[in-house]
Amino acid sequence: MKLWTGRISKHADQRLDDFNSSIAFDSRMLEEDIRGSMAHAAMLGACGIISQADADAIAAGLEGILADVKSGALPIDMQAEDVHTFVEQTLTARIGDAGKRLHTGRSRNDQVALDFRLHLRGETARVRAATLALIKVLTDKAAQYTDAVMPGYTHMQRAQPVTFAHHLLAYAFMFTRDVGRLDDAARRMNRSPLGCGALAGTTYPIDRAQTAAALGFDGIVQNSMDGVSDRDFAIELVSALSVLMMHLSRFCEEIILWCSWEFKFVELDDAFSTGSSIMPQKKNPDIAELVRGKTGRVYGDLTALLTLMKGLPLAYNKDMQEDKEAAFDAFDTVLACLEAFTPMVETMRVLPDNMRRAAARGFINATDCADYLTRRGVPFRDAYKITGQLVAGCVARGLTLEELPLAEYQAACPQFEADVYDAIRLETCAALRRSAGGPAKESVEAQLAELRAFLSCADKAGK
Ligand code: ARG
Repeated sequence: MKLWTGRISKHADQRLDDFNSSIAFDSRMLEEDIRGSMAHAAMLGACGIISQADADAIAAGLEGILADVKSGALPIDMQAEDVHTFVEQTLTARIGDAGKRLHTGRSRNDQVALDFRLHLRGETARVRAATLALIKVLTDKAAQYTDAVMPGYTHMQRAQPVTFAHHLLAYAFMFTRDVGRLDDAARRMNRSPLGCGALAGTTYPIDRAQTAAALGFDGIVQNSMDGVSDRDFAIELVSALSVLMMHLSRFCEEIILWCSWEFKFVELDDAFSTGSSIMPQKKNPDIAELVRGKTGRVYGDLTALLTLMKGLPLAYNKDMQEDKEAAFDAFDTVLACLEAFTPMVETMRVLPDNMRRAAARGFINATDCADYLTRRGVPFRDAYKITGQLVAGCVARGLTLEELPLAEYQAACPQFEADVYDAIRLETCAALRRSAGGPAKESVEAQLAELRAFLSCADKAGK
């Protein structure tokens, strides 16, 4: 039975029903729908719009429905048009006329806007917690590798020495900003649309502030037409999720490279690797590849939402029913990615010797060689040129800067002395990069301290 039988008298064609129905995906908001209805009924009772006895009967009835759905005693009726219809009709079937009073002063338009916000609030909290867990894993792992020198790259060419800790923390900081974006969007979303009605409020003396407070909102949406037609919150959240996926995807790309025989900087735990059906030697980083692939899917969800909303006149349009699958898919995808990615990183074996070996080739200490001369009074641009010529000579003869005899250094520039070898040792190069934010141990320790402070503060804010 439709909620809207009256004006429409004919039985709905099955094809309309199938096409129109949203219960298959919006039943996921059942708990929020019930909590919203409880707050609405309590407010109707408190404002004298319905009797206190009816309000109490509705509250008890809704509580019973929630309990029965959770226990499995009450299956969700997939023939119902949507979750709102299912809850209201079940309530009326159970408690009679009081159930028919629940929808006083309310529309499914403000109801769905409310349920969606409440549901995404919970989903955001889950992704936030999963992102914090990843940051924690990265900081703990980085703390173990503050001395592990590895090549830092630009243009995918070995550039300057960094440490594995420094590299991991670059990602940890990206994820802190992702948490910040989710928090910002969640804060803006946290206003109640309940009481906006179909679009133009209501003639009943409702108390929107009461339902907003009861449902944990910071206040009400101030304009009823805005309240029922705004989906910015979903777009903002999925946009924050897209950036988060972009970060995860870059990280995955590096892990895939690091797992290759060409790099072998890390080895994934067997429990987080896959094999090949034909090539017996294969150990594949499927999780990292899938996360990279699923990034496109989340971008697709964002594009769907933006495109969905771009031409809609005020206020509610049925097009907006399409918002839920896109948003839910984005949240489910990100959560699934984080749940697989975090333990994969946590359990991966780091191979510092291979990183050190890669760092030894590629002249990543050339800047440090030039800096050595600069410290001895040679202008940087001259030092740069002298070092460049030394590197070119080494390349031609298959030598490293460490292997070049002192006499040749001194022939290129008399300021070179025997201590140049110490200055261009990779460990020295990393240790001397003590500038704030740099790879030296003390700089990385400061970064770790900042991340730990972020985590403890974010943990408290999440509670
Ligand atoms: N299933 C609908 C949606 O998700 C609920 C709101 C229906 N409102 C209406 N006027 N038909 O948007």
